[in-house]
Amino acid sequence: MRKPIVAANWKMHGSRQMTRELISAVDEGLDNGWSVEVLVCPPFVYIDEASKQLAGTDILLGAQHLNPNPGGAHTGEISASMLVDLGCSHVIVGHSERRAMYGDDDQVVAANFVAAQEAGLVPVLCVGESLEEREQGITDQVVCEQLSAVLDAAGVEAFANAVVAYEPVWAIGTGKTATPEQAQAVHKTIRGLIAGHSDKIAGDLRILYGGSVKGSNAQALFGMPDIDGGLIGGASLKADEFVAICAAAGTLE
Ligand code: PGA
Repeated sequence: MRKPIVAANWKMHGSRQMTRELISAVDEGLDNGWSVEVLVCPPFVYIDEASKQLAGTDILLGAQHLNPNPGGAHTGEISASMLVDLGCSHVIVGHSERRAMYGDDDQVVAANFVAAQEAGLVPVLCVGESLEEREQGITDQVVCEQLSAVLDAAGVEAFANAVVAYEPVWAIGTGKTATPEQAQAVHKTIRGLIAGHSDKIAGDLRILYGGSVKGSNAQALFGMPDIDGGLIGGASLKADEFVAICAAAGTLE
């Protein structure tokens, strides 16, 4: 069985104090008996603070973005090896906010994915359709195109060491969650696309759902056969909500 992952995407929120307090409250709330990997992705500037706070815990550390170049004249940017140096094991690539606001198109996302893996990071690749695309009935096409751009660049083997997050844009930060059935249908499509290249890799791939996941809806979502945890924005900023989501993922029958 695939072990679920619950990942916190803090986005551009926090402070050093919040980083310490939130991580310590989450760590206290987690139960060793739950079968779940927990990942926290703070803003770049708080990664070091988070890393110190996470020492001695099982919680994993990730970043929200990277620059694919190994170094050099890229003012304001952060490389994959810098993230590794700070103790990150994961990095989010292709989040819809970056695709929509910062020009991260499929080629940039694929380059980020490859650079992350080359440095030893596990990329958490986000894909998802807009409301307009869903209404046009092209959800599967959009998601498969986003995924194929990375498959073409990295090859299916790369997915043995990656995580995919399906995040319908219309459900992010809106309070509108995809129904478990809507999410499951897309997760199945994603797994099917990977299975077209390798059954084994598809069977082992963790596919997270993201978009207004809360303690109250997590269990129904995570109970679906192809949903292997969640990528959590707003609710990851509240320790009790986030812990409730981790509990839902970690106590599945
Ligand atoms: P949300 O964000 O949980 O606040 O909807 C999810 C995400 O953007 O990763």
